Amino acid sequence: MIKLKKQVKDILKVLQEKKDNCIASELANELNIDYIVLMSAVNDLIAYKLGGFKEREIHQVSLNEEGLSYLEKGLPERQLLNLLLNENLKEITIDELLQKSRLEPNIFYVGLSNMKKNRWIAQSKASGKNKIFLIQEEFPPTELEQFLNKFKKRPVLNIDTLSKKDLKYLEILNKRKLLKKIKKTQREIYLTKKGKTISLSEIGTLQQVSKITSEMILTGSWKNMELKPFDVSIPGPLLKGGKIHPLITIINEIREIFISMGFTEIRGPLVESAFFNFDALFQPQDHPARELHDTFYLKNPKIAKLPQKDRVEAVKRTHENGGDCGSIGWGYDWKYEIAQKTLLRTHTTATTIRRLAQYYMNNDKTPIKVFSIDRVFRNEKVDKSHLAEFTQIEGIVIDENVTLCDLRGILSEFYRKMGFEKIITRPGFFPYTEPSMEIAVYYDKLGEWLEMGGSGIFRPEVTYPWGIRNPTRVLAWGLGLERLAMLRYQRSDIRDLYINPIKWLRTQSY
Ligand code: PHE
Repeated sequence: MIKLKKQVKDILKVLQEKKDNCIASELANELNIDYIVLMSAVNDLIAYKLGGFKEREIHQVSLNEEGLSYLEKGLPERQLLNLLLNENLKEITIDELLQKSRLEPNIFYVGLSNMKKNRWIAQSKASGKNKIFLIQEEFPPTELEQFLNKFKKRPVLNIDTLSKKDLKYLEILNKRKLLKKIKKTQREIYLTKKGKTISLSEIGTLQQVSKITSEMILTGSWKNMELKPFDVSIPGPLLKGGKIHPLITIINEIREIFISMGFTEIRGPLVESAFFNFDALFQPQDHPARELHDTFYLKNPKIAKLPQKDRVEAVKRTHENGGDCGSIGWGYDWKYEIAQKTLLRTHTTATTIRRLAQYYMNNDKTPIKVFSIDRVFRNEKVDKSHLAEFTQIEGIVIDENVTLCDLRGILSEFYRKMGFEKIITRPGFFPYTEPSMEIAVYYDKLGEWLEMGGSGIFRPEVTYPWGIRNPTRVLAWGLGLERLAMLRYQRSDIRDLYINPIKWLRTQSY
């Protein structure tokens, strides 16, 4: 039994129904398949002696650019005639007509001589001027024009199929240089006697597979199979590769900015003591921010280890009476138990204050520039602009004679590198800085100032327990990360940064 590819069988069916030979290119058009696909099917027919093809040279002709323009506007003789008819001119000098026609002289004279040939006009110099006269009333299309019009229906004519008369006009157009000749090899597909008479039910179809397996190769069964054609125009599957989260991307960018400004990154524990989160920052033990509704306290571990005793005592004294820093303190009984409570840090200032403790411990008096970009926790109701955990961009500079000007310079340089040209600083309040500044950046897309965080110079009450005193000072800041990320990624809901809307994340670049 003969087995053919399904498509070859379909083509055989069409050829049997047609009964006549077919021009390959026309058949490919009709079946809406590629010429090459058709010819490879014909090859399969040849292999089973069901069909074949003959090649023939054919001569075709079409109009060239000039010819096409005449097809549209009429031959020059017709254009000149129309000019005369439109202006109702029965006679005119040749010079005048040339001017009016705006044709190039050589084209004009071709038109003129053909008007004469068509016996539309007569020419006379009898009056002393070279004049022409219309000598007809009606001007039906000439046979040449009728032939030219054939190109309207079929832009390419087969010369072999033209009548003798047509050939005569073709020759005229050719002499007038209005044609383009094309030589082509045409293939004509035919069926053999076997191909014409074989019943399609006697022909099987090859099994279609999309992959050849090693087994098919071993058993040789691939020879009786047809590889399904691939459609390379179909889009491939969407590759959902892993990506760096936009928040991580912006964190890395910020990290690089501070590093480029000479800072070193520090990190501190998420589980903090109240001591470093509040006490060391001169926040009184009855400060409202310490309340349960602002701060997550922990049951386990319940008690934090405090730093060396004399430093805890120094902090205790500043709270109670100002210690030796010249302040009068808050004037209350400071309790160890409250400072030992454990909590999730509410700000990364707890981490920079740890750096002050280290500064003291190491007895290290070299200038220090450190930053941290890290998670903090607050017992807040979550909505589109609040989260219970978020990220702070924190930093300190410890150096002699540094001022608020330096602080402002660092912050504006940072925001400038993040793409914000203008920052504004306004007086603020934090228990641990004096003076304190709030920072806002100008967001040109909204034409608004947006609050970004707080900063200031640590009070003596904060620095003295760690042996830092005038003229050595500590510049400090704590800025929001998510606000920046929302602006960068055009998100209006802060939660989007954490609930991971997968569709949006996929649109973000690596
Ligand atoms: N810790 C402050 C906050 O969380 C920010 C701040 C840091 C302010 C350092 C002054 C100095 O908002």
